[in-house]
Amino acid sequence: MASETKPNILVILGSTREGRIGERVARWLMRQLRRWPEADFVLVDLRDYPLPIYEGPSPDHRDAAVQRWVDKVAAADGYIVVTPEYNHGYPAALKSALDHAYQEWNRKPVAFVSYGGHAAGYRAVEQLRLVAVELQMVPIREQVAIQSPWTAFDAQGELSRSGADEAVQRMVDDLLWWARALRQARAGDLVAV
Ligand SMILES: Cc1cc2nc3c(=O)[nH]c(=O)nc-3n(C[C@H](O)[C@H](O)[C@H](O)COP(=O)(O)O)c2cc1C
Repeated sequence: MASETKPNILVILGSTREGRIGERVARWLMRQLRRWPEADFVLVDLRDYPLPIYEGPSPDHRDAAVQRWVDKVAAADGYIVVTPEYNHGYPAALKSALDHAYQEWNRKPVAFVSYGGHAAGYRAVEQLRLVAVELQMVPIREQVAIQSPWTAFDAQGELSRSGADEAVQRMVDDLLWWARALRQARAGDLVAV
């Protein structure tokens, strides 16, 4: 039965910028996630999904790149979005990726790992939480926020910030609780996807 398989969680790297720090953050997170062998975590780099600017809901005319992205989203039970803060918001590439799907996000949990200047990406995530609700997702309260990531990682890629491991623990425990609960609920609901 599907509900007995491991939850499949996509870790979405939201920055596509040349020279991005997001890659370091995502790699660190993926190592942290080894603490949960009971779930599958798949890193998804938006650079590998070059999507056109969203121009309308036309599933019958989706190009192959969009369909590949939508299929990836559909197959997941939950998401962790890794996002920087750009001008008090989040990257346009991330918004485009969110807008290209709808039903595929519905009734699934999403957690956020942010980074940025003194606000550590919190402003970007506050906006993402509103978007997530509109996509009928369950945004997880616990968040990992990394201030000044350019000074945060050592040569081995480890994060030298106290409390980070614990923050990941709280966030992922909660995400997986919701991923399991909502998958079971979706399985009993013929309307939900
Ligand atoms: C276009 C742009 C706008 C930015 N605006 C903000 C901002 O509003 N708040 C902030 O904390 N950092 C801001 N920054 C700094 C980024 O958080 C920092 O450069 C971070 O490394 C970006 O993530 P990335 O390297 O993965 O793309 C901005 C960076 C860019 C490129």
